[in-house]
Amino acid sequence: MIPEPAPTVRELLAFYLEAGVDCALAEEPVDRLAELDAPPPAPRAAPIEAPRPIAAPAVMRGDAAPAPDVAIASAREAARTAPTLEALRELMQNFEGCALKHTATRLVFADGNPQARIMFVGEAPGRDEDIEGLPFVGRSGKLLDLMIGAIGLNRSTAYITNVIPWRPPGNRTPTPQETQVCLPFIQRHIELVNPDVLVTLGNPSTQTLLSTREGIMRTRGRWFDYDTGQRTIRALPTFHPAYLLRSPSYKRLAWQDLRAIAKALAGA
Ligand code: URA
Repeated sequence: MIPEPAPTVRELLAFYLEAGVDCALAEEPVDRLAELDAPPPAPRAAPIEAPRPIAAPAVMRGDAAPAPDVAIASAREAARTAPTLEALRELMQNFEGCALKHTATRLVFADGNPQARIMFVGEAPGRDEDIEGLPFVGRSGKLLDLMIGAIGLNRSTAYITNVIPWRPPGNRTPTPQETQVCLPFIQRHIELVNPDVLVTLGNPSTQTLLSTREGIMRTRGRWFDYDTGQRTIRALPTFHPAYLLRSPSYKRLAWQDLRAIAKALAGA
């Protein structure tokens, strides 16, 4: 039998790209198969009991990947204690309970004015956001800027972030487990910004934050109550700008939502 010719570099790159591998994480390749053959690390000596600082997540840099329920509990405990946005950013920077952190280039925390009366929350950073470290800076971000500009807002009068702060590889959909691990952080984020109006962009953000299973076609343009535990915030779901880029005919409905947002800000 004639052996199949080895794939060319171009074919291999095309295969990786299709699988969602579209950027290099390090200068040198890492042989993961060799890692499998390596002897297991020596067990760590029992730690000497030391008081943990209140705001330090239990799952920190250097720890092995935790079980999902441990990661979720650790995120909850850490997020609850973050007294400021800066402390929250630092906690997230040091948090090791979400695997997405290891494939993303950097944490994408937020952009805009933390004193703003309006907060927009998308799903997760994409490639451009991962490179720049800021949410909504790619194509859909440009559209978001135009949308908020249409009601007189910009990044100095609005605050923008995502449910998931690390880019999922190849922009895949975050798993329910990844979303649950990140949820306490975005909940604390909203509590600390404490806006008058919360806008959820698209289905994943709406369903996660507003605890609904209804789709965006039913939820958009409808006011919800978002309870921070301290206060109830008015929340309005609307279409994600990436969806509007694919389906521009829905811009008409998005415009209705934007007008409702402007009215709420003027009246509140
Ligand atoms: N899509 C999102 O949901 N968030 C971003 O930051 C960019 C694209």
